[in-house]
Amino acid sequence: MSVHSEIKRITVNTLLKMKASGEKISMLTAYDYSMARIVDEAGVDVILVGDSASNVMAGHETTLPITLDQMIYHAQSVIRAVKRALVVVDLPFGSYQGNSRIALESAVRIMKESGAHAVKMEGGEEIRESVIRILSAGIPVMGHLGLVPQSIYKFGTYTVRAKDEDEANRLRSDAKLLESLGCFGIVLEKIPAKLATEVSQNLEIPTIGIGAGGGCDGQVLVLHDLLGLTKDFQPRFLRRYLNLFDEVKGAISHYVADVKSKDFPNEKEQY
Ligand code: KIV
Repeated sequence: MSVHSEIKRITVNTLLKMKASGEKISMLTAYDYSMARIVDEAGVDVILVGDSASNVMAGHETTLPITLDQMIYHAQSVIRAVKRALVVVDLPFGSYQGNSRIALESAVRIMKESGAHAVKMEGGEEIRESVIRILSAGIPVMGHLGLVPQSIYKFGTYTVRAKDEDEANRLRSDAKLLESLGCFGIVLEKIPAKLATEVSQNLEIPTIGIGAGGGCDGQVLVLHDLLGLTKDFQPRFLRRYLNLFDEVKGAISHYVADVKSKDFPNEKEQY
């Protein structure tokens, strides 16, 4: 038996069981083979091929420009590395809003061309038809409520969402709707911790928070933020575990200096 076949894969059912037993779910983004391999080996339960690739991989200001083809490319690279985690891929802006047939085509392309296990979509009532159609094709769907970055130009800012009662009520009913349609989980982004806890307690499916407090059933961060590869982004919810920007820069500066000084390569580093 190969090592590969001994690893127990995380499925959407595993996540439901984790919620039921009170075990917290860890989720992290990845966009390429090398990082996905590390993230998977480190024991992360869910790897999100997030459209935050638009920011951290491509350098765009928002998540809007990334295309379906580019998301599929990132997902293919991640899938090649992953042996255990559930791999969820963001449907990018413009690939599912407004037309459920196009939404299904987009989700099918992601599943068929990358081998990913599920898709994630931002929104509630307004994407109901697209969610239904994708689920009816047997594709697991994760929801995303609260701060939904694909609608940044509607909100105008990245500040905390659902602070007023109207928006909080809309979020409560959208969460219930997504669960009733058959979504297997919901990301709650940047909403008050009290609201996130209440929503989590009222759902059977797990919630995964980012800036939504410890009452969610799991947590997600953008890999580049956790590792300190991004420098200027410092929201309150972000815990940085490394300062890789400076560490990598230091190593590369050292390499440049070694080349200039003719220290590299030395006798042992040549043939
Ligand atoms: O694209 C992304 O990285 C996300 C997370 C912030 C949840 O959607």
